Amino acid sequence: MAKTPIIVRTLRELRGQVWEWRGSGETIGCVPTMGALHDGHLSLITLAKKHAGKVVATIFVNPTQFAPGEDFESYPRTEAADIAALASAGCDLVYIPEPGSMYDAGHCTSIKIRGVAESLETDHRPTFFDGVAIVVTKLLNRVAPDMAVFGEKDYQQLATIRRLVIDFDMPIKIVGAPIARDAHGLALSSRNKYFDTDGLALARQLNVIMFECAAKMRAGMNVDKAAEQARQAFLDAGYDSVDYVSVASKNSLTKLEGGILNDNARLLIAVHCRGVRLIDNCAI
Ligand code: PAJ
Repeated sequence: MAKTPIIVRTLRELRGQVWEWRGSGETIGCVPTMGALHDGHLSLITLAKKHAGKVVATIFVNPTQFAPGEDFESYPRTEAADIAALASAGCDLVYIPEPGSMYDAGHCTSIKIRGVAESLETDHRPTFFDGVAIVVTKLLNRVAPDMAVFGEKDYQQLATIRRLVIDFDMPIKIVGAPIARDAHGLALSSRNKYFDTDGLALARQLNVIMFECAAKMRAGMNVDKAAEQARQAFLDAGYDSVDYVSVASKNSLTKLEGGILNDNARLLIAVHCRGVRLIDNCAI
């Protein structure tokens, strides 16, 4: 039977346990999450276990990365199931900070990341990476791991966190995990829980249209033309709207200019499907 991880809710308990492990020579890996865990999250735990002796998962639905009108209130909260899933993946400790303890009444620091954090998501969710930057900084400062894993599913988030860690001289190795998909290729996401059967079938078209678009680009079609065809394909399939179908440099995330492909290109997509915002990406 899977060993139940240690559950801690206070910073004092967290630090006590991590220091004890460090004292006995363990290395520490960290996997920050907002809970509602699925196999994609668990693949991050498995990857962290390959890099570190002890793995800490954090569960915190971070209010500062949700804009007014987004789904902060209704975001699925499934703590008991999350803990059981983390146990099955071999997680050693789960840190679940009390909601009020992360931002006290006096909190007044913000972090603005430019470069990789501009455009794409920021064009549609202008304050999203400000919220991610502050909470990831706080979580990494609290856990103080040697390494942390983030998923390529949120590709711009991963690139932004890589930059954050460099810019703040954090001695933490950031490891990217490949995107976990269901049998139909849909990237696993906590928000997939919002779909009924019909919506799920439509959501599963996202990866089909994305991989077709990447294949066209690879075969030599002008990048802007292939992206436009994908945008139209989403609307024809019945998607509500398309935020972007963009090709960017895989590290800097600067937009590919001139419609000509190079080896470093990444296709990134954000769409709205039956009221749910979905993102996905792939190498070209
Ligand atoms: P959350 O959406 O819970 O995701 C936690 C981590 O799991 C992120 O690194 C995300 O990229 C990764 N992940 C989600 N779905 C995945 C999939 N299908 N395949 C691989 N990895 C996947 O991302 C966040 O939370 C938050 O923004 C957070 C970083 C925790 C800050 O609040």
